[in-house]
Amino acid sequence: MEIGEVAAAQPSSHGGQVLRYEKLFVGGEWVDPLDGGLLDSIDPATGRVWAHVAYGGPQDIDRAVTAARSAFDGPWGRMPGWERAALLLRLADLYQKRAPALAILESRDSGRALRDARVDVGAHHQWYRWYASLADKLSGRTIPMDDSVHVYTTRVPVGVVGAIVPWNVPLMAATWKIAPALAAGCTVVLKPAEQTPVTALELAKLIEEAGFPPGVVNVVPGYGHEAGAALVAHPGVDKITFTGEGRTAKDILRTGADSLKRFSFELGGKAPHIIFADADLEQALNAATGSAWTLCGQSCALGSRVLVERPVYDQVVDAFAQRAAAVRVGMPLDEATHMGPQAHQAQLDKTLSYIGIGVEEGAQLVTGGRRLDAPGLADGYFVAPTVFAGVHNQMRIAREEIFGPVAALIPFDGEDEAVAIANDTSYGLTAGLWTRDVGRSHRVAARIDAGMVWVNTYRYIRWTTPYGGMKASGWGRENGIEALDNFLETRTTIVSTTGKFPNPYAQ
Ligand code: NAI
Ligand code: MG
Repeated sequence: MEIGEVAAAQPSSHGGQVLRYEKLFVGGEWVDPLDGGLLDSIDPATGRVWAHVAYGGPQDIDRAVTAARSAFDGPWGRMPGWERAALLLRLADLYQKRAPALAILESRDSGRALRDARVDVGAHHQWYRWYASLADKLSGRTIPMDDSVHVYTTRVPVGVVGAIVPWNVPLMAATWKIAPALAAGCTVVLKPAEQTPVTALELAKLIEEAGFPPGVVNVVPGYGHEAGAALVAHPGVDKITFTGEGRTAKDILRTGADSLKRFSFELGGKAPHIIFADADLEQALNAATGSAWTLCGQSCALGSRVLVERPVYDQVVDAFAQRAAAVRVGMPLDEATHMGPQAHQAQLDKTLSYIGIGVEEGAQLVTGGRRLDAPGLADGYFVAPTVFAGVHNQMRIAREEIFGPVAALIPFDGEDEAVAIANDTSYGLTAGLWTRDVGRSHRVAARIDAGMVWVNTYRYIRWTTPYGGMKASGWGRENGIEALDNFLETRTTIVSTTGKFPNPYAQ
């Protein structure tokens, strides 16, 4: 039985045998770590080890980068776009078939509710399909100048890509990077987060089965300061694409500075979710409460600052409290569960610490605000959906990314104040606004400094929709045609139509 099927066979079980993933995927082969070992992957719902997973160190990264380079200089670099597309489509088919098992494994490794993982992971194949459709359309331009030259541009792959992904949505983050990178003709070394390495190795199995040439995608789990830093420092890596914490991005820039490689970053947010008094409140509450607690708060797109126009503020606070009571927090694999635990102990500690900070700052804790210790949950990293009212935007719980299920409700008066509060943040990833006034929706959307603004909806994210941050939320865009820009360089070729070049020293 395949490892994934073991998990799939017991969807409601958080016990059972400890899975073993003992090899790294490098150069198309399953290899023992050279300078790594086996790490314990914890099931955050139980606090117990559920998988032993191989991790690599700098030597393993070096071997993976070498393999990625050979593939890039060899078969992959010479392969026409339509053949790359065919491989991506094969991967899409395999991924789609395997998605139910992948969702279960993702749920166990990261703690996200299976019902939510199933929807997300069930859609990833669309990324591989859509980028496949672009792989043979990476055309440049011809540039009219004068009749002495013919000028054209070509789009060429940047080379070997190091992809570093976090633990909140491990497969999604990997997919958003790998699909466009391969479509662009790059090769990849993927380093998943140390907390959630399992599904990246499952993805490696699909890459192998799809028949990509060896080394096109390599998967090396490892710790950030070891494998991650080695990948960033490696002179053979042309580009780092990273999702995670802003502080880590700054470290990455310092470590990568010597090789002047390229970087793109997706660094989280503190999204304003603005509810005007004229909104369809029922819909706004569906979206705002959903986005506040989804993924147990561990989403960069979280509408964690809920800005509410004063006439409806008390009503919205009450509704948040009521809906918090309806959230079924529980074992991620149980079909009934809406919200699982925090993905790991450090994140649990961080969230609880911010809840304490909010109380100290004088915000009003309306509901939640504690770790759940009911029998069956006490050993996991569960936190009650939490609502703070009376929040003002200078409080740390309104300024810093908590990454827990904590909604901070901030009152405002009128459009100008809504925009001022919305933009008074170092972040600029996503924003939402709810109003029935069409003019206002465009007016306000145009004033918000965010890479993605949702009007009368929230968290609508697809393979076609460019996603990424302004300000401290990142560099570059993922998804959409724009994502290809992360993995392509432009070469401008200028051909003289005369072949004549004057002697500069003739007189
Ligand atoms: P992190 O940024 O440390 O980890 C993300 C990835 O970077 C992991 O694969 C990690 O191994 C790697 N990494 C860590 N240090 C590295 C280094 N020096 N060089 C290269 N790679 C390195 O994020 P962390 O500490 O796990 O989470 C802390 C906070 O970051 C969260 O509480 C949340 O606020 C934010 N975060 C935001 C995410 C987003 O989606 N934008 C995702 C994860 C975390
Ligand atoms: Mg960290």
